[in-house]
Amino acid sequence: MNEKKGEFMQTPCCYWLTGLPAAGKSSLAYRAAELLQEAGVRCHVLDGDALRSGINKDLGFDMASRQASVRRASEVARILMDAGLVVLVSLVSPYTKTRQEARDIMSSQGRFYEVYVNANLRTCMSRDPKGLYRAAMAGSLMNMTGLDDPYEVPETPDLTINTMVSSVEEGAMAIYRHFNMAHF
Ligand SMILES: Nc1ncnc2c1ncn2[C@@H]1O[C@H](COP(=O)(O)OP(=O)(O)OP(=O)(O)O)[C@@H](O)[C@H]1O
Ligand SMILES: [Mg+2]
Repeated sequence: MNEKKGEFMQTPCCYWLTGLPAAGKSSLAYRAAELLQEAGVRCHVLDGDALRSGINKDLGFDMASRQASVRRASEVARILMDAGLVVLVSLVSPYTKTRQEARDIMSSQGRFYEVYVNANLRTCMSRDPKGLYRAAMAGSLMNMTGLDDPYEVPETPDLTINTMVSSVEEGAMAIYRHFNMAHF
């Protein structure tokens, strides 16, 4: 593996943020990316919502579609890592097996860090910034992770961020510090 890629002089790697809807994955990924960029680290966020409006717009929320969405995100992340970037992926990615597949896809290009963004269902339902839980409870949305679809909690994550305890800033700093400890 080429540890220092091209002109960026940084180690490509992936932070894969997984957790329930509204756990705080996107908030943390975008803020961590800002912190890294301010420090001169070239990085990119691959966010589930953005992917669903583009490369994944043909996919639904059944198990096969969720697996396909994770696989596509992994392949795009691998390409970005090959280009020398630090990639932050924010995707519910509820199944252990598909997260392992993501790790396998990317491991040839650099380190893969699984980040468990932990907030319990009650907290996520009270946040519900997109109204998804409300829609699911009202019966107008099926296959909602945490309600009628499973979420398999990571057993050995590289990093856990408990967003019921820490702020967005503290959580993003945890990723930033992890990167600095692991790569410098
Ligand atoms: N400590 C925290 N960390 C992250 N988000 C928090 C925290 N406290 C409150 N929030 C709020 O929780 C909400 C989480 O939304 P966000 O879109 O980041 O979640 P998500 O995990 O990306 O959800 P989805 O899977 O639906 O995309 C936001 O409104 C955010 O401001
Ligand atoms: Mg999100």
